[in-house]
Amino acid sequence: MKRVTVSLNDRSYDVVIGSGARHTLAVEIGRCAPFAQRVVIVTQPSVVAAGWLEGIETGLAQSVIEIGEGEDEKSLSTIQSLCSQFVEAGLSRNDLVVAVGGGMVSDVAGFAAASYHRGIRYVTIATTLLAQIDAAIGGKTGVNLPEGKNLVGAFHQPSVVFCDTDCLATLPPKEQACGRGEMAKYAFLSGETPSTALLNETIDDQVARCVAIKAAIVAADEMESDRRMVLNYGHTLAHALEAVGLERRAQGINDRVAELAHGEAVALGVLFAAALAENLGRIDHERVELHKSVIEGFALESSLPSGLSGVVLIERMERDKKAHHDLTFVLDGPRGVEAVTGVDRSVVLTTLLEMGAEQ
Ligand code: GLY
Repeated sequence: MKRVTVSLNDRSYDVVIGSGARHTLAVEIGRCAPFAQRVVIVTQPSVVAAGWLEGIETGLAQSVIEIGEGEDEKSLSTIQSLCSQFVEAGLSRNDLVVAVGGGMVSDVAGFAAASYHRGIRYVTIATTLLAQIDAAIGGKTGVNLPEGKNLVGAFHQPSVVFCDTDCLATLPPKEQACGRGEMAKYAFLSGETPSTALLNETIDDQVARCVAIKAAIVAADEMESDRRMVLNYGHTLAHALEAVGLERRAQGINDRVAELAHGEAVALGVLFAAALAENLGRIDHERVELHKSVIEGFALESSLPSGLSGVVLIERMERDKKAHHDLTFVLDGPRGVEAVTGVDRSVVLTTLLEMGAEQ
């Protein structure tokens, strides 16, 4: 089993990575919450159906709460319902929430734990690749509002995270692609020369490598005042693509944009960010080609879906909560990947048109 520490002084915690990692839960709870007497496991029906709760023993009085599956369930009413069920289960300040599932479960259960009794401990068993290398680590918790995604939440660090790589074997192809898109992003955040070498490693090593990169970034800037923004590499366009996809689904359109998974959108966003960085004179064409070979090495699509309007995408980017009132991108450059504010709208549009978007 591999361990990576997220170093945050008295809130430091370990990420335990490997086959069967979830079965070390009781031992780890003994270490991180020695006074806990009761555990509430928060999960989803699909996680239970996949069998990931079987044999999960905390050694304490435990009960299970299932939350719904879709993005609509990531809401304040789910938090209210969870907290009421925590009261019913007799959860006290010393007790513990265990989130078992993907990013949505750790976001929701983590926020409920952050709010209940003004904050109790939680641990996460991450069952998707995306959650293992990103969502479950770093303490970002929260829910959506009708006005936008993740608009209400808290930084609340878990006490331990389990990345059980057994859970990845049965992931549907869409979920695998989702994780690979985020994994490709990390290739450019390590500070080393990006390469597809990551692809030839075992899944345990791949996950551990990404977790170590994220742990170092979170340790340097927990609250995302500066350095942590690099974790949003590729996300400005990705969020705009997802927003357009959501609108199309609402209209009953099921095209490639409507069906893009988050990680697939991130992969396209990384390629766009590289092309934009080249147009801004920050990197050369060889570096753009390196981005393309890494994305394609991860078996991800590298062309924009057809029928996208550049103007509409820019409008959606400007609405993104991370835009800080102007066009902000995380871009590669001579100092590596960093946040760049006030990017010229016309260069953004030119780059989108060069990638095949329409006016
Ligand atoms: N998923 C980006 C972050 O944790 O900051």
